Amino acid sequence: MDKLLIEGGRPLEGTVRISGAKNAALPAMAAALLTSDRVELDNVPRVRDIITMGRLLAHMGAVVETPEIPPTSMIFQAETLNGAEAPYELVKTMRASILTLGPLVARCGHARVSLPGGCAIGARPVDLHLKALEQMGAVIGMSHGYVEATAPGGGRLPGGRVYFDKITVTGTENILMAAVLAKGETIIENAAREPEITDLADLLIKMGADIQGSGTSTIRVQGKEKLHGAKHTIIPDRIEAGTFLVAGAITNGQLKLTDCAPEHLTSVIAKLRETGADIREAGPGTLVVRGGKKLVAADVCTEEYPGFATDMQAQFMALATQAEGTSTITETIFENRFLHASEMIRMGANISIDGRRAVVHGPTALSGTNVIASDLRASASLVLAALVAQGETVIDRVYHIDRGYERIEEKLAAVGARIRRV
Ligand code: UD1
Repeated sequence: MDKLLIEGGRPLEGTVRISGAKNAALPAMAAALLTSDRVELDNVPRVRDIITMGRLLAHMGAVVETPEIPPTSMIFQAETLNGAEAPYELVKTMRASILTLGPLVARCGHARVSLPGGCAIGARPVDLHLKALEQMGAVIGMSHGYVEATAPGGGRLPGGRVYFDKITVTGTENILMAAVLAKGETIIENAAREPEITDLADLLIKMGADIQGSGTSTIRVQGKEKLHGAKHTIIPDRIEAGTFLVAGAITNGQLKLTDCAPEHLTSVIAKLRETGADIREAGPGTLVVRGGKKLVAADVCTEEYPGFATDMQAQFMALATQAEGTSTITETIFENRFLHASEMIRMGANISIDGRRAVVHGPTALSGTNVIASDLRASASLVLAALVAQGETVIDRVYHIDRGYERIEEKLAAVGARIRRV
């Protein structure tokens, strides 16, 4: 199993190109199931979850091409589907496989997708996805660990008024994809407003869908009988950009991030500025972060977009260990998302956890040791902590980081980090 070895204490300086957003590319790939035509995506990050989703689509009969040039492009064609089924072997490694349920039932009238297993950061059920599909007229059944969704008579879903009790990102995406091929109108209320939803809607509109209101809490979709192929460029990864902003600030360095979308990072930038980080826009899609000033504590509460992203919470905690004063971090989206704290404590951080609240007293000198990555963003936070720790940190189970960060050690090494994979 791969490990990352990081020798801390060096300021990061240089330029980092931000990759495409994994969380936008995954639903875009699932959307390719909605048409028999070619769907060409660009700015797709080469990360493990994308490979897993590619395998899943290929398993269903789609042709998946990964051309060498340009290196971020992928082409999908689901001319015919040989089985509207997502097997456990593929779903268990990636919860986002559930994103195939909506498009499959919309296109084939029937779908069978394995239930995702437990997840380190909480129970993460899919009940909201299923309830919403029922509201669109699907019949839902469960057997042998699989969820089965069937449209009336195996034909098209009728569509309907869908209300989410709780805001769910992939739930909204699933229903959006089911709705575009429904017979009638679907109105999605209490929809997620993340930029990844808008990016998916933009792709679906290019494919011929009729969607209004993406990026707001109410999305209206008029179903179409058929969608066609399209070309689409995936939006930049706001979480990767946020992670590198923290890397620049925490190491007292100076990083220029290119190909990013500062407009998707408003809450993260505001919070980092509150801690004293100097962040400026330097032209379209470009951000510069400079360290230098003493970092000061700030409180953070995770929220749905446009609030502070839960996917940036662990990285913010790493920063808080280096900030003067007491930072309170409240996690409202997931019930068990402080697994990184115990590893940071082993590195010397002063953190106490009380339910969904973490209190970080700083600054504390961190020292390198052996730590274990527990999930994707937790591993990123341990990399950040290791970058400022004295001596060497060995991060185990880095497959978590490979699920969502493209060539992280190459990108960090290019701006001066002493990091290697063993
Ligand atoms: C997506 C992101 C993930 C991010 C999360 C929250 C992708 C592939 N993943 O995950 O990186 O951390 O949004 O911004 O885009 N819930 C239920 N029942 C459901 C669905 C969700 O109870 O059927 C709960 C979850 O347990 C969680 C909350 O709702 O507490 C929000 O989860 P959700 O927005 O669905 O997260 P994902 O879409 O899985």
